Amino acid sequence: MKSKVELLAGGKDILFKSLFFPILVLILITSLYFYLPHNLSSLMSDLDMRSNDSVPLNMKSTTATPLHASSNDSLSVSSEHKCNIFQGDWIPFPEGPYYTNETICVIDDRQNCMKFGRPDSNFMKWRWKPSECELTLFDAKRFLELVRGKTLAFVGDSLARNQMQSLVCLLASAANPVDVSTTTDTRFRRWLYTEYNFTIAALWSPHLVRTQYYGPEGNNANNLKLYLDEADEAWAEQTENVDIFIISASQWFFRPFIGYERGQIVGCHMCSERNIRNFSTCYGYRMAFRTAFKTFLSLKNYNNKLVFLRTFSPAHFENGDWDKGGSCERTKPFKKQEMQLEKYILDLYMTQVDEFKEVKKEGEKKGLRFRLLDTTRAMVLRPDGHPNHYGHWPQENKTLADCVHWCLPGPVDTWNEFLLHMLHMEEPTLTGKKLKKNDREN
Ligand SMILES: *[C@@H]1O[C@H](CO)[C@@H](O)[C@H](O)[C@H]1NC(C)=O
Ligand SMILES: *[C@@H]1O[C@H](CO)[C@@H](O)[C@H](O)[C@H]1NC(C)=O
Ligand SMILES: *[C@@H]1O[C@H](CO)[C@@H](O)[C@H](O)[C@H]1NC(C)=O
Ligand SMILES: *[C@@H]1O[C@H](CO)[C@@H](O)[C@H](O)[C@H]1NC(C)=O
Ligand SMILES: *[C@@H]1O[C@H](CO)[C@@H](O)[C@H](O)[C@H]1NC(C)=O
Ligand SMILES: *[C@@H]1O[C@H](CO)[C@@H](O)[C@H](O)[C@H]1NC(C)=O
Repeated sequence: MKSKVELLAGGKDILFKSLFFPILVLILITSLYFYLPHNLSSLMSDLDMRSNDSVPLNMKSTTATPLHASSNDSLSVSSEHKCNIFQGDWIPFPEGPYYTNETICVIDDRQNCMKFGRPDSNFMKWRWKPSECELTLFDAKRFLELVRGKTLAFVGDSLARNQMQSLVCLLASAANPVDVSTTTDTRFRRWLYTEYNFTIAALWSPHLVRTQYYGPEGNNANNLKLYLDEADEAWAEQTENVDIFIISASQWFFRPFIGYERGQIVGCHMCSERNIRNFSTCYGYRMAFRTAFKTFLSLKNYNNKLVFLRTFSPAHFENGDWDKGGSCERTKPFKKQEMQLEKYILDLYMTQVDEFKEVKKEGEKKGLRFRLLDTTRAMVLRPDGHPNHYGHWPQENKTLADCVHWCLPGPVDTWNEFLLHMLHMEEPTLTGKKLKKNDREN
């Protein structure tokens, strides 16, 4: 454990230095059952692959009582006073949530915990409080002004979609979008906020790199080739058209795959083939981010693009693996002091952050902005925020617990509070206003 701390403390990057404190309190709560990450990948694929996105989504038009940030609230952290917003704790927020399950927005049934009778509601009544400053309430109008004329894309898996749905619901107090999708595949849904000429796009790409299924069973998730040095066209072809990217990846890397580089097999993950190098889970994960980042760096025209890496989202199964009766029954966040970080979460997180630090440096030289949406720590503290048994398709007999995705409304809304804060810091370049010195720091 000491070495992890040292590893963290060793980082010189300003963004990163601040990590060190919370991880000092790596007290492993033993009640948390240690599950094998690769098993979890099956749940992810279960949840994603069977997903029938043509199922009618919750678009009911009942009015709710959304919480509005007053429009003259100004974001409180100035560039003079730097503060790591990702370091903090959850505090009670009796006014929450920002929206309800009846807000006119898309809440995927699988994350619509109230609809399926989740008995407690306190999980919606917490806000993230950075230790050294305030995170302002989400202000939908302010957000929309910042992104006027832009396209923002969520690249990743169903957790990227989870954040996208949260954003659409948060914005619903100011505007509702029209569906301008160019395909019926809702994993590639596009929403246009006409009044703001602002587009939100989902670009489904759970591995970020090119994949190919092989073998007799067709799309059997276990017969997977990953081309670790080739970006997935699903998002890479859109790079010219998108201004703000939020990229992420998660449990999909836990499943078996054969890895290719320069068209040749270079190894495999969880495979039993002899004569092939065995990758650790982190290897594929690292290469996928590296390849994704290189894709951005090789763009001809950066056009003020902003690339956010949204860090690893932890799962919280207790008392069993996901397929052995494990579930997430807690109804309160952990306090920072109780924070637990399982080794595989830390490893994946560190892998992302390493790659990010490299590309951020490169980007700075070339004028391409990479930013860290560092959500992992906050979410490790939220074992109470998952659907558990209260999120599924209407007719589905839900026996498995979902301790991977996040209820809406729920703690995932905080990701968008962070996003607003960070976009605010980027305002001069985003909106084309003249840059002041220091304003680009975050
Ligand atoms: C998806 O949902 C539609 C509409 O409810 C239904 O017709 C279709 O059979 C479903 N497909 C799958 C694969 O479940
Ligand atoms: C909004 O601004 C006005 C005028 O500056 C001020 O009096 C009022 O307290 C502000 N409201 C909030 C909620 O900050
Ligand atoms: C919202 O939640 C309530 C329970 O709190 C439930 O009865 C209702 O069906 C839900 N509405 C929608 C549209 O999901
Ligand atoms: C809307 O934004 C796009 C870029 O995202 C731009 O090409 C287009 O001209 C804009 N349309 C209007 C009406 O401003
Ligand atoms: C590679 O990993 C697989 C599955 O984890 C294991 O069965 C195999 O023995 C490993 N091979 C080597 C050479 O370590
Ligand atoms: C749902 O699944 C459980 C466990 O497999 C089973 O006991 C129960 O009868 C099922 N319920 C329905 C309505 O099918």
